[in-house]
Amino acid sequence: MPVENKAQAKPALIRMESVAKYFPMSGEVIKALEDINLTIYEGEFVSVVGRSGSGKSTLMNMITGIDHPTYGEVLIGGVKTRLLSENEMARWRCNNLGIVFQFYQLIPVLSVMDNVLLPMQLHDGFSVDHTDRAEQLLHSVDLWQKKDRFPAQLSGGEQQRAAVARALANDPSILIADEPTGNLSSSEAKSVMDVLKQTVSAGRTVIYVTHDLDIAATAWRTVTLSDGRIIKDEKRLSKYQKRSASKKNGQQIHQIPSQTD
Ligand SMILES: Nc1ncnc2c1ncn2[C@@H]1O[C@H](COP(=O)(O)OP(=O)(O)OP(=O)(O)O)[C@@H](O)[C@H]1O
Ligand SMILES: [Mg+2]
Repeated sequence: MPVENKAQAKPALIRMESVAKYFPMSGEVIKALEDINLTIYEGEFVSVVGRSGSGKSTLMNMITGIDHPTYGEVLIGGVKTRLLSENEMARWRCNNLGIVFQFYQLIPVLSVMDNVLLPMQLHDGFSVDHTDRAEQLLHSVDLWQKKDRFPAQLSGGEQQRAAVARALANDPSILIADEPTGNLSSSEAKSVMDVLKQTVSAGRTVIYVTHDLDIAATAWRTVTLSDGRIIKDEKRLSKYQKRSASKKNGQQIHQIPSQTD
């Protein structure tokens, strides 16, 4: 008997309907995404995998609204992002979204600490003590000692961890992380994955891109892209579900067809 993903009882949070993204390039068209139909539910923990150039970052940019589809619709909480102005979208991002960019994009003129403080300052009415939260996040990615350095004074892996801390600063309801462990040693990657797991446990929705299939398997669901299309959408059980499923001798992996909903 298939085991239902606990998160699916919750409302659809992100919905992509027949999304295509084309980039015109010197007379030809690069089809980065084609016919993407994907629904992500509140509280889900989703990894996105696929070869280099398969469209993973483009897919993340469609969800964050940093870029827009050529065709199709992206709906967040039932709202078509196409209908929001850039200002509305930026406001929404500050209040609801944390983004770890593939190439970090820390602000070079701000220290690590100030990079982490910034999203809290931009968030409307963020009531938690900013400095305490920044300290806690920098400890969680083991960067507290380097909080006063500027991004250029950090290694790639350190910048990546700083980017994770910054993305979580505004306690976002959705975290989008494009290869958050790509430049990390296995122990550093484990710490970052622990932070992502805690974020999901706190009821947030986490979507991350990775090239590492073991890292991908931490999530409860893995979406595989190939040439801009979803070719696989696999759900696995969370630890909690595994425990209750093993009590009932339930099935451990539930394959669902690609292009769900
Ligand atoms: N701004 C752009 N202009 C033209 N082509 C682009 C642009 N952005 C992405 N592409 C192309 O779209 C395709 C998908 O790119 P994307 O960056 O989404 O891949 P990816 O899966 O994230 O790859 P990687 O694993 O290397 O980060 C690639 O063929 C890429 O060259
Ligand atoms: Mg990418």
